[in-house]
Amino acid sequence: MDSLEYVTPYLFRHRGRNFLTKDIMRPKDLDALLHVEIRPTDIFLITYPKSGTVWMQQILVQIMEAALPGWGGDATNRVKVPWLEERTADNPFRERPDPRIFGSHLPPDMLPVQVKDKRIKVVYVWRNPKDVLVSLYHFAQSWVLLETPESFEGFYQQFLDGDVYMGSWFDHVREYCAAQEELDVHFVQFEEMLKDLRGEVVKLCAFLGKDLTDEAIDRVVEMSTFKNMKTDPKANYKDLVEVHRYKTETMRKGKAGDWKNLFTVAQNEHFDKVFKDRMSHLPLSFIWEIK
Ligand code: A3P
Repeated sequence: MDSLEYVTPYLFRHRGRNFLTKDIMRPKDLDALLHVEIRPTDIFLITYPKSGTVWMQQILVQIMEAALPGWGGDATNRVKVPWLEERTADNPFRERPDPRIFGSHLPPDMLPVQVKDKRIKVVYVWRNPKDVLVSLYHFAQSWVLLETPESFEGFYQQFLDGDVYMGSWFDHVREYCAAQEELDVHFVQFEEMLKDLRGEVVKLCAFLGKDLTDEAIDRVVEMSTFKNMKTDPKANYKDLVEVHRYKTETMRKGKAGDWKNLFTVAQNEHFDKVFKDRMSHLPLSFIWEIK
């Protein structure tokens, strides 16, 4: 008997987050991830969905391949940076060469406990939530595991209510901010990467302890531009379009401010108010405008 706590037919709730009913992971599999063995050299890439995961995946892979020639092999980034919670606990991702990099959308309290205990390096990418909402709205029409939204208006409300994949954006960001003491976390804003990708790569290398030459950094940056990634089959997830997991490309626009094409004036004002109510007490500085 199926005892999942359904949010919608496509999402079930577990420990305050929403997971995919069409995926194979069930609450017991998610709980088992708490006990995955972590090595001191492991790195975690964590995001709320649509915040720049695939972009940071490429940057990390490029940094690692520059620092440790031969590290990545010939595989796609999806194989090089395996997704923690998409797989069951006995997945061969453990066989990846050190240093391993895992991707995850999990909140801090659902990560393997050793991430905290071993002070593992965590890279957290976050993005203007209005653009996250719009990107997720488009992605929900593309990814076969998500429910196609009936209207933007309805999806907008679902996002604010946290009734979307992985739950509330506000909770996710708040929880990672609050976890700064117990996690070794480096925060990167999507919009900062748009503004100065090289500067962000340099900061990231310092955090990861990777001493790259200027030429190597230039190459990481060049390989990680939107233009380059769109045609890089190892980075752009187009293979998932080919096998009909995605109906459209995930490398969609890669810009800041696309929300202006979908939000009404009233939705924007309302969003700013919710944002202020829920986030303004946090010691965060945002590169985007929130009144
Ligand atoms: P848009 O849908 O707004 O275009 P994620 O990887 O977390 O799912 O995030 C996807 C978003 O990151 C998409 O946003 C995608 O276009 C954007 N993105 C991916 N690679 C990028 C790059 N190199 N530069 C800018 N944006 C990028």
